[in-house]
Amino acid sequence: MEKVNMVSKDIVGNNIEKIGTLFPNCITEVKNANGELEHAIDFDKLKQELSRNLVEGKKERYEFTWPDKRQAIVTANAPISKTLRPVREKSVDFDNTQNVYIEGDNLDALKLLQETYLGKIKMIYIDPPYNTGNDFVYEDDFSQNADNYLKSTGDADEQGNRLTANKDSNGRFHTDWLNMMYPRLKLAKDLLTDDGIILFSINDIEVPNARKILDEIFGSMNFVDCFIWYINGHTDNQDQIITVHEYILAYCKNLSLLKTNSVVDPNIPNKSKIYNSFAENSIVKNGEKNPPSMITLPIGFPCEKENLIFSRHSNIENLIAEAKSNGFISREMTRNYKVEYPARFDDMVVADYKLAKECRVFSGWMNNGKLQNFINSGCTPIKENDGTSISFYLSKNGVVYYKREGRTPKYIQSVLQNMGTTETNKYMLEEMGISFDYPKPLILIKYLVSIFANREDIVLDFFSGSATTAHAVMKLNAEDGGTRNFILIQLPEKADGQPNFLDICDIGEERIRRAGKKIKGEAGLLADNLDVGFRVFKIDDSNMKDVYYQPESLRQEDLFSISDNIKDDRTPEDLLFQVMIDDFGIPLSAKIEKNTVSGKTIFNVENNFLVACFDSGVTDEVVTAMAKLEPKYAVLRDSSYEDDSVAANFEQIFNKYSPSTTKKVL
Ligand SMILES: C[S@@+](CC[C@H](N)C(=O)[O-])C[C@H]1O[C@@H](n2cnc3c(N)ncnc32)[C@H](O)[C@@H]1O
Repeated sequence: MEKVNMVSKDIVGNNIEKIGTLFPNCITEVKNANGELEHAIDFDKLKQELSRNLVEGKKERYEFTWPDKRQAIVTANAPISKTLRPVREKSVDFDNTQNVYIEGDNLDALKLLQETYLGKIKMIYIDPPYNTGNDFVYEDDFSQNADNYLKSTGDADEQGNRLTANKDSNGRFHTDWLNMMYPRLKLAKDLLTDDGIILFSINDIEVPNARKILDEIFGSMNFVDCFIWYINGHTDNQDQIITVHEYILAYCKNLSLLKTNSVVDPNIPNKSKIYNSFAENSIVKNGEKNPPSMITLPIGFPCEKENLIFSRHSNIENLIAEAKSNGFISREMTRNYKVEYPARFDDMVVADYKLAKECRVFSGWMNNGKLQNFINSGCTPIKENDGTSISFYLSKNGVVYYKREGRTPKYIQSVLQNMGTTETNKYMLEEMGISFDYPKPLILIKYLVSIFANREDIVLDFFSGSATTAHAVMKLNAEDGGTRNFILIQLPEKADGQPNFLDICDIGEERIRRAGKKIKGEAGLLADNLDVGFRVFKIDDSNMKDVYYQPESLRQEDLFSISDNIKDDRTPEDLLFQVMIDDFGIPLSAKIEKNTVSGKTIFNVENNFLVACFDSGVTDEVVTAMAKLEPKYAVLRDSSYEDDSVAANFEQIFNKYSPSTTKKVL
């Protein structure tokens, strides 16, 4: 039975829609008095559309803006008091892996990574929600994370199941998407190395806005390309024109430092010359831009034929005279003089693959400066800065050729074809026992990683979904022996209709486990060095009690009840990772050893860089063991001393065994 609609018709909304069909440029997005987004008329623009004269208005300038843009900047810069808690039971090879998986809102995660990974990430790949109307985009109320937001707006139930989509009809338009993306991209940029790159998957809906915010954040001069990905999938949609492409926007932190790897598009046929490690071509070139000149080829100039004899061109003086007055050799002159180029001023005589006598030749040229260098250096190859070398020779027809050797083939096209489809990758995942809609193709992401990340680089994906990026990094490492690492971030969003998985993090993590096992099994000799593990962290509120942040709000009587700043459910390992990233900028993948002294756990991070103990009841013996490691930094918990004498001894013991250690108390 249909429900009675108790809400009166939105007459103003209908009117706005009507005007919008006549003047789409006059429709804008604004926030109403309740802070909700809605469509509205830009009356200044409408006035102008309806006036024959210039309507006075505020001074125009070139800008791209939307409601709350300034708030998005504030948000990017606002500090948070959250922490990353290690989850050993979900991790694989926790102690040895360099890969990281973070469960939580990427806005928080990107902030938590700022200190440690600033300028360290070579490549970021993201595939954010496209704002299709089905993929939810929440408005960022930046004081709370996405999870709370969904519940507070009624967009998710108590279990975190999403209830609404970002449909045009509920007033969530481009503004929400922009407010979501803008602060995240700003934070992400800072994580990139100076020669780092971001690759951003998107389709027609938001590509104009994505380009505008990327232009703004990265600078339009750092735009690298807008790859067209031919999605190749069978589509049964009935549109007049079936869209079979999406985009991958690429922006560098600094375009002048971009260096792509020597990769050849797999669509290039095996027989293509592109795969040769050398390139060669004639340097004879005649046209308006190539004023002709005479070059003397010396005795000993190489030739590809053992013997050759070509006589001088009889009418060459006339050709030279006419070419000099004309400024270049024209087609008519070539026809009239019936010469091939270069025209010979002397007989060309080759014996034993070399010129036996000097030969002057006349033509327009390409690269004649390099030819002259080659001649001046006694016809020895010239080394180029990129590691290649150039030499010159005479062909069997007496034409001067260059040959560049030592080149690694490279051919990367802006159209990405035959890189797999979301359908085939969905089936691939199903065969692995994992179900996820619209995963990006493994081959596509692996290809992008192979172009932009070197063999030891870190690749970050902060909308990681089914973890295709992790799979691609591990697979590429297995193929080329690389040691690239990944950092993945994913919101623990409910996985619709998936009884075996709690949320999308569960799906992504299980994919990495299964894919990693398979890749390692197939890797043969490379298997030993292949890192298919990952450390899982979940974003949580701070390890510290509120009193730690607001000691001034403490009441006198509380002072006696508070023995500790740290929340009861937090483990020593939680505290260790907080200290590592907040205070010392130590990567989440750092090597950590654990030792037990007098029943207390001493953590040793990165071979004595940081030594820490977060247990209570610490004795002289424990402090001595820590000091004897001569660490750069030592950390103890505020309330950890067994008694006052240990506290007093702490300084003394360190002064004795390791005076240069910087000591901190948590
Ligand atoms: C289009 S999917 C990515 C698919 C992925 N490229 C793959 O191949 O499986 C986008 C993902 O971003 C996640 N996401 C959306 N908002 C997020 C946020 N604020 N923080 C972290 N992840 C988020 C969604 O849950 C979704 O899984």
